[in-house]
Amino acid sequence: MNITNLLSIKYPLIQGSMARISRHELVSAVSNAGGLGVLTSVGMDAGELSRQIDLVRSETDKPFAVNLMLQQQNIPELVDVIADKYVAAVTTGAGTPKPYFEQLHAAQVKVIPVIPNVSIAKKMEQLGVDAVVAEGMESGGHIGQTTTMSLVPQVVDAVNIPVIAAGGIADKRSVAAALVLGASGVQMGTAFLAAKETPISAEYKNMVLSASDTDTVITGMSLKDPVRSLKNPLVTKILEMEANGSDRDEIRTLLDGSLQKAVYDGDVDRGSFMAGQIAGQIKAIKPVANIIEEIFQKG
Ligand SMILES: Cc1cc2nc3c(=O)[nH]c(=O)nc-3n(C[C@H](O)[C@H](O)[C@H](O)COP(=O)(O)O)c2cc1C
Repeated sequence: MNITNLLSIKYPLIQGSMARISRHELVSAVSNAGGLGVLTSVGMDAGELSRQIDLVRSETDKPFAVNLMLQQQNIPELVDVIADKYVAAVTTGAGTPKPYFEQLHAAQVKVIPVIPNVSIAKKMEQLGVDAVVAEGMESGGHIGQTTTMSLVPQVVDAVNIPVIAAGGIADKRSVAAALVLGASGVQMGTAFLAAKETPISAEYKNMVLSASDTDTVITGMSLKDPVRSLKNPLVTKILEMEANGSDRDEIRTLLDGSLQKAVYDGDVDRGSFMAGQIAGQIKAIKPVANIIEEIFQKG
């Protein structure tokens, strides 16, 4: 089944969830423009998630999803909110949605895990999920080890459910390429970082706009949790510490709260400015509707 029918959306485009970033303003803008907006639940309790869902619903009557980062401690209460409010879909990361699968499907919530390799894609298909997002390592945020170009066709060959390609996609050409690789749709994150509606600091948007193709790095290899971010003093320091074999707790302490420093405070030295390699192509702040229309307009 194609994902426009599966998710009742106009275009085969999902806005990748972005921790502490994809709040109601961005989500409703994407859903109103014909894609699927995805609300982050990182750092939220049940009350805050419920409030964000209500805000999205006050801004759009179109479908949207919630993202669950499954290592978070309070997932059961967040799943209760999602099921009670009949959200259209969840995307999941950092673990298996298996413990919550029946409850979500009973509430007619589509389950779409983000996967980094073929083996996990097959396990998710066996679980009965509705689609998978195959995310390449050029993506921003937490990443696997295979590139989009290699991963997507291998996942497409391995499973019989829709595969949504993510990682390095930001314009008409890369969407077309993903579809040729066999994907049923795309998920984009970095391209929306510079959207007008995205509620992040001006400094974060400026760092994305001024990034070149080689301005992202991967930290966290020593923590077995690789993360792609824009180069800045924080990641330079962490890379040095990782090269010197520094204590992992010391590294974790530096990372603690660093995303909030980027998103809310625009702290260019101590913030963690997660973004993908495609940041080098993002050169202007545009309304979400323009970003999406430019991709799907005919001709
Ligand atoms: C700043 C940032 C934060 C992200 N946070 C999450 C997250 O909380 N959960 C998740 O499943 N994916 C997260 N991602 C991944 C995106 O949802 C998406 O899959 C990815 O951005 C696609 O690759 P691209 O950055 O090349 O477009 C994040 C990506 C970025 C850039």
